[in-house]
Amino acid sequence: MTTSPSTPQQDLDKALALSGASSFLDSSFASYMDEHDSLRALRDEFVIPTRGEIAPGADRPEESCIYFCGNSLGLMPKAVARYVTEELQVWGEGAVNSHFKHRFGRPWVRIEETVQEQSAKVVGAKKDEVAIMNTLTSNLHTLFAAFYTPTATRHKVLIESKAFPSDHYAVESQIRWHGLDPKDSLICQEPREGEVLLRTEDILETIEKHGHEIAVVCFSGIQFYTGQYFEMEKITKAAQAKGCIVGWDLAHAAGNVPVQLHDWNVDFACWCSYKYLNSGPGGIAGIFVHERHGEDFARNRLAGWWGHDKATRFDMVNVFKPMAGAAGFQHSNPSVLTTSALLGSLSVFEKTSMQEMRKKSFLLTGYLHHLLTTEFSSEVLEIITPVDPEQRGCQLSLVFKRGKMMEIFTGLAARAIIGDERKPDVIRIAPTPLYSRFEDVRRFVVELKELVAEKYN
Ligand SMILES: Cc1ncc(COP(=O)(O)O)c(C=O)c1O
Repeated sequence: MTTSPSTPQQDLDKALALSGASSFLDSSFASYMDEHDSLRALRDEFVIPTRGEIAPGADRPEESCIYFCGNSLGLMPKAVARYVTEELQVWGEGAVNSHFKHRFGRPWVRIEETVQEQSAKVVGAKKDEVAIMNTLTSNLHTLFAAFYTPTATRHKVLIESKAFPSDHYAVESQIRWHGLDPKDSLICQEPREGEVLLRTEDILETIEKHGHEIAVVCFSGIQFYTGQYFEMEKITKAAQAKGCIVGWDLAHAAGNVPVQLHDWNVDFACWCSYKYLNSGPGGIAGIFVHERHGEDFARNRLAGWWGHDKATRFDMVNVFKPMAGAAGFQHSNPSVLTTSALLGSLSVFEKTSMQEMRKKSFLLTGYLHHLLTTEFSSEVLEIITPVDPEQRGCQLSLVFKRGKMMEIFTGLAARAIIGDERKPDVIRIAPTPLYSRFEDVRRFVVELKELVAEKYN
């Protein structure tokens, strides 16, 4: 007999009984959860700004701030400073020779290899399916250049109507690049009237109806505004059954939820590393190309010498021989400093797994969800992120009613609580399992209650 696994809310209820606390808002409940958190030691791997640094003049200036903005920029892992400093040292003392001779064993000529394997683990890929290169929007263009090959009958691209603007611009420009018009070749999946989330059934219906004329389906894994985690495997399967190529932008999913790009048979994907991967502003990005495309050299690609066969790269012969796998899609020699920063941040991921992180994330975001829905009236705030924990990651997107969002946002900032705002009315709050505590969630809710009492009177 199999028993169905418990839901995060059932686990929280059980923990409440065990903690002896009288309510979820009791500090003893949050302390109990933090003490029993198997990832709690990982918080020490990060530099956490103090209240005084974030909100000068705030009381208790030495205490750490509450940081819920990993969906925008992750906190700095301490290891990053060490890895980057080592590269500066090696640059200083070895200069150009450090491409081949490196006292820390990371010759620059192969620097990208140092981050390939752990990156692949994070996105559920085989090592050779991943290349760490460029930045996110550039990589989206690179992948479209290879995978968007419109014909007279199959020339459309299906995206979300509220795709992140950079993705929307990139896709429109790719369509135009082929001499086509987005008016004819772009399908934007709209939510139903009066809804903000996309229903999987509606996406599948569009694919069923238009799949024969769609060249590429390209969604974000997690929607930046609503925090909706799309049913990636289902959508991929349905679109491929219609002959479409399927690509995913994992900006908000990589390091947040345990995607399985290889097993889900995704054609291509790309992500940035400065959000949940904590590699620093403008960090180096990643691509995934499924292994079945890895030796498809007939597929045109934007070429550069870093995609050329390593054995002959320095022969300076102008006959491009791409490497197999995602590596063959690289263009330039990568930024050593940003790659080393990523190496530092991935050293924290090495100490756990996406599955362990997801377990904590279910509880942490579940706790936030529970407190927000029990402590606030729907006249004040509404959560637009899916209620089902399987259909969201760390982030909850809170709509503040009656035009009060900015007032609440600045009030939180003054109390050294960092989320981020998206106009007109949303504050995104993302507790992350690597460095956020249950106590952070509890205190956030307590302080938000005070602010709401002040602003909604
Ligand atoms: C979903 C999504 N796509 C694209 C981008 C743009 O990223 P970049 O500026 O690194 O190209 C972002 C940035 O936040 C994003 O969230």
